[in-house]
Amino acid sequence: MTKKMRVGLAGYGKAGKAVANILSSDPRFELCWIACRTAAEKPQTHPGTNIPVIAIEGNSYADLFERMPVDALVDFSSAPSIHAYGEEVRKRHIMLVSAISAYSEEDLRYAHGLGKDTRVLCSPNITLGINFLIVAAKLLRKIAPFADVEILEQHFKNKAEVSGTARKIAETLEVDGERITSLRLGGIVGHHEVIFGFPHQTVRLTHESIRREAFGTGAAFALAQLAGCENGFYTFDDLLLRKMNCDMPEA
Ligand SMILES: NC(=O)c1ccc[n+]([C@@H]2O[C@H](COP(=O)([O-])OP(=O)(O)OC[C@H]3O[C@@H](n4cnc5c(N)ncnc54)[C@H](OP(=O)(O)O)[C@@H]3O)[C@@H](O)[C@H]2O)c1
Repeated sequence: MTKKMRVGLAGYGKAGKAVANILSSDPRFELCWIACRTAAEKPQTHPGTNIPVIAIEGNSYADLFERMPVDALVDFSSAPSIHAYGEEVRKRHIMLVSAISAYSEEDLRYAHGLGKDTRVLCSPNITLGINFLIVAAKLLRKIAPFADVEILEQHFKNKAEVSGTARKIAETLEVDGERITSLRLGGIVGHHEVIFGFPHQTVRLTHESIRREAFGTGAAFALAQLAGCENGFYTFDDLLLRKMNCDMPEA
């Protein structure tokens, strides 16, 4: 039987809780602990499991890694955390999957530097579906640069700003941000659509977010792929392309 990968999770907020649900029920992984900032309003263990939820306030990542060693750390906490655990991850060669969306340029430079000594993935969009949509859209854009491109994003009523994912899609496809249409209605979790208008046909690539657990599925994919990589800094695209090259070498 192959050994399970021992994983620690940083962050136990809206996303972290959903990611914990996925990682704790995936037979490839042993979720050993979950770290949050403060103990306030947290259970001692993740519901339905005996996985401890530990406040990092008054503890340190060095202590945590020492007491409960892990092979990988998944980060759904906040941007500054990387500086709290970075040197420990580097020293212990712990794989890092960071989903933090708001790293500064300096944080990203630091994450790149960690890639010299261990395997690091940073992805501001960690769902498998969105990343697949971006790869597929990029491919179609390359094949048919003459097709018109429009991006449609729909979210819940109170989301104020234009979706960061939609902006990333526009940037990747090198189309103007004005080609993004945003609709705000009801409780839509997240809908992204790239429409390619050809003279005689239309192609629509659509992604619908249903639950935050999708972040966990993406993190699990990243962990499994990173396990087969050399030390280095990777994006989700890198891992998807690696998977496609391994499984479909002729594609
Ligand atoms: N890449 C993606 O697709 C994706 C998707 C969803 C979220 N995210 C990112 O994930 C992060 C969390 O999002 P969220 O919506 O879950 O936010 P949230 O509900 O505010 O939760 C943040 C969690 O992080 C904890 N935390 C903060 N600093 C920490 C530290 N130094 N060590 C350990 N835990 C710490 C907080 O602890 P306390 O509760 O004790 O304060 C809280 O549990 C954000 O950076 C967000 O951008 C990325």
